[in-house]
Amino acid sequence: MRLHSMGRFGIAAAVIVAVGCAGEEGEEAAEGEEAPVVEQVAAMPDTTAEAVWAHLEQANYETWALWPEKGRLYAGGEPHGMLLTTYLNDAALEALNGDATVFPAGAIIVKENYMPDSTLAAVTVMYKTESFNPDNNNWFFIKRLTDGTVQVGGRGAGCENCHGARRDNDFIMTADIN
Ligand code: HEC
Repeated sequence: MRLHSMGRFGIAAAVIVAVGCAGEEGEEAAEGEEAPVVEQVAAMPDTTAEAVWAHLEQANYETWALWPEKGRLYAGGEPHGMLLTTYLNDAALEALNGDATVFPAGAIIVKENYMPDSTLAAVTVMYKTESFNPDNNNWFFIKRLTDGTVQVGGRGAGCENCHGARRDNDFIMTADIN
């Protein structure tokens, strides 16, 4: 957790330095201001399970922020696993920490589902798209086993039904988002 925090701080510091340099050069200031602070959103993956997974691997999601106050391998309930570790990309984290009542397009939540002996069993993902499925706030659901089998890629009926109980909370179950 501590290492991870340092990593994020490092990225933030680098962005500040980059913007600062552009500002000093005057003309390039506008370009600097437009520099994507939320670097993960810059590469918004297509809505296929394979594209999203490739994005997660490339972005090295295990370096992302953990769900606030949850830590690693926290106790979870049915159906997801006994032990959970949940990561958020910057867009999701900012929304969660801010006043948002729904996550913005580009937000990604990755939940690792572990067996009681801490063996990883599956990864479940919620990826907020622009327009995949307005009926469920455009969430794209993925469930991927550790051998690479994709059990859900898109509209998991089970995912949608159960998470739909928290439609008022943008389908999020872990905590109230606002
Ligand atoms: C029977 C209910 C149920 C079903 C079915 C279900 N989930 Fe969940 N999900 C939960 C609960 C409850 C949590 C909160 C974590 C916990 O305590 O286990 C959660 C948490 C999550 C999270 C973390 C973000 C959040 O909403 O809190 C993701 C990502 C997720 N589920 C993905 C999926 C995917 C993908 C599927 C389908 C393959 C799925 N879930 C099916 C109940 C369900």
